[in-house]
Amino acid sequence: MCGIVGYVGKKNVVPIVLEGLKKLEYRGYDSAGIAVIDKGKLSVLKCKGRIADLEKLVKKNHLSGNIGLGHTRWATHGDPSDRNAHPHTDGSGKIAVVHNGIIENYASLRKLLIAKGHQFKSDTDTEIFAHLIERFYKGDILKAVQKALTLTEGAYAFAVICKDEPDKIVAARLGSPLVIGIGNNGEYLIASDPVAIVKHTRKVIYLGDKEIAVLQPSGYRITNIDNVEIEKETEEITWSLDKITKNGLPHYMLKEILEQSQTIYDAIRGRILKKEAKIKLGGLESPLKWVTGKDKQKTGLSCLLNAKRIIIVACGTSWHAALIGEYMFENIIGIPVDVEYASEARYRNFIVDGDTVVIGISQSGETLDTLAALREAKKRGAITLGLVNAVGSTIARETHAGVYLHAGPEIGVASTKAFTSQVCVLALITLLIGQEKHLITKTKTNRIVRSLLKIPSQIKEILGQSDAILKIAKQYVNFNNFLYLGRGYNFPIALEGALKLKEISYIHAEGYPAAEMKHGPIALIDKNMPVVFIATDTEDQIYKKIISNIEEVRARKGQVIAIASKGNKSIGEIADSVITVPKTMDFLTPLLTVIPLQLFAYHIAVLRKCDVDKPRNLAKSVTVE
Ligand code: G6P
Repeated sequence: MCGIVGYVGKKNVVPIVLEGLKKLEYRGYDSAGIAVIDKGKLSVLKCKGRIADLEKLVKKNHLSGNIGLGHTRWATHGDPSDRNAHPHTDGSGKIAVVHNGIIENYASLRKLLIAKGHQFKSDTDTEIFAHLIERFYKGDILKAVQKALTLTEGAYAFAVICKDEPDKIVAARLGSPLVIGIGNNGEYLIASDPVAIVKHTRKVIYLGDKEIAVLQPSGYRITNIDNVEIEKETEEITWSLDKITKNGLPHYMLKEILEQSQTIYDAIRGRILKKEAKIKLGGLESPLKWVTGKDKQKTGLSCLLNAKRIIIVACGTSWHAALIGEYMFENIIGIPVDVEYASEARYRNFIVDGDTVVIGISQSGETLDTLAALREAKKRGAITLGLVNAVGSTIARETHAGVYLHAGPEIGVASTKAFTSQVCVLALITLLIGQEKHLITKTKTNRIVRSLLKIPSQIKEILGQSDAILKIAKQYVNFNNFLYLGRGYNFPIALEGALKLKEISYIHAEGYPAAEMKHGPIALIDKNMPVVFIATDTEDQIYKKIISNIEEVRARKGQVIAIASKGNKSIGEIADSVITVPKTMDFLTPLLTVIPLQLFAYHIAVLRKCDVDKPRNLAKSVTVE
């Protein structure tokens, strides 16, 4: 949700910022801008549209300098337009601000400032902050930012430069992520995500909430709002930038779909001890963070083993993975599980106690609602675990323990590979608890492990059907409504398949438990309503019911696309189109059935000429409520 990048040092800031912004475009892409200080002059260029549009503007204006800030926007206050694009400046034109987040009390601050004679050029909440700094500025930009922050409510990541102090970037964070990059020879960077700066340095500091950083060629300083210095550890980025290319493919989303046989392998690599038929998740074995006294011995695993209840909080696609986790935990290891939309859990009487483990699932590790729900759970005494992809992200850092997904950077806004890795890690956790509690025998563990290890090659086999799926997509590309139905482990896949289609192709699609069709959606079925059934035959009982549901749709002239098990000859007689997936154990089927649905949504979106990697109105990392 909005991307920030800044640089101070000896090099020309413009290409560094533009390149960084391109890496952050997944965070928002309705407008972009840059502010540079050079020879005592502050220049701001900004425009509606993509970074490529900003690049043209920058070229035309021959911008250069050694200090600057850039921003790519996902609109919250004010429509996407040139004047609402960041950076925003104060009344005197000395101070430039970029912001990610929402200033919740902006309306009252705006009124107050207008009463004091301030005039605003945009409809944004951010511009208020520039004017607040202006009011407090008496030759020390750090002090002025600190004072302005005392009046600001909401969530933010800010970066500020001032032409009267042309060697300083001041940055502050509450809720929205910011990382500082420490370069060579007095070079410092700031960004919403390390992907924007890793080309320049691997040495980073993750700024914490309510921390303020000043970056200057002579060094950096981190303080709190009262100017008390804070010591922070420097961390090393271990992943490399070559993971963030399209590999010659037209879209990141396609690359990420195709990567899944590898990413599933990466999620299980080193975590299955084949000889002992044992699962090992290092992140759950180390002592919990912050826990003191007799609880010092506790680990994520010991808490899971003693948990009377598990609550999983997540948003979007991660929430669908959570639902699959619920089915796995309850069916296989008998632990009661509730799956909550993080945004709902955080604002109601979220009942947790010391016997509850709250798991947050998040690709980015920065989704504000998920983070807030986990913080609330922690405050109420629960142990929190994070299932996170982005290493070093806020959720990864703030949970007591957790498991990384190891899916590598996911850039396509619609989540694909992170989802299958989440499901895979949930399966590993289920197995781990099952084996520790002696609920799963060694022989069964062996059987499951063998099935799990086959998943990467089975995914490859499904990916090989991409052209056949494209053919089917061509038949359905002009429909405006779709229904997705599934049962059991494939009910969340129906939700996920529908979400993928609406996210990237803007076609209305709904996912439902197949049996619920007769309680409403059946009224919609006619020849214009294709229905996607996830109809694998791993569980006989469920399969028979699904077949009856298919007949009900056919009886009303609905068109049926079936995702069926390989070798199923009969389903072709009742479905208009069939895509098959190899057979696996019931709880692992989601890892396979989701793949054709990702490809189907992808092909339809491309056929409809939609911007697959940057769907309208969406953002990859949602750091506003
Ligand atoms: C956004 C993204 C989705 C993602 C959701 C949750 O809506 O577009 O793809 O599933 O956020 O994100 P998280 O990073 O917490 O998994």
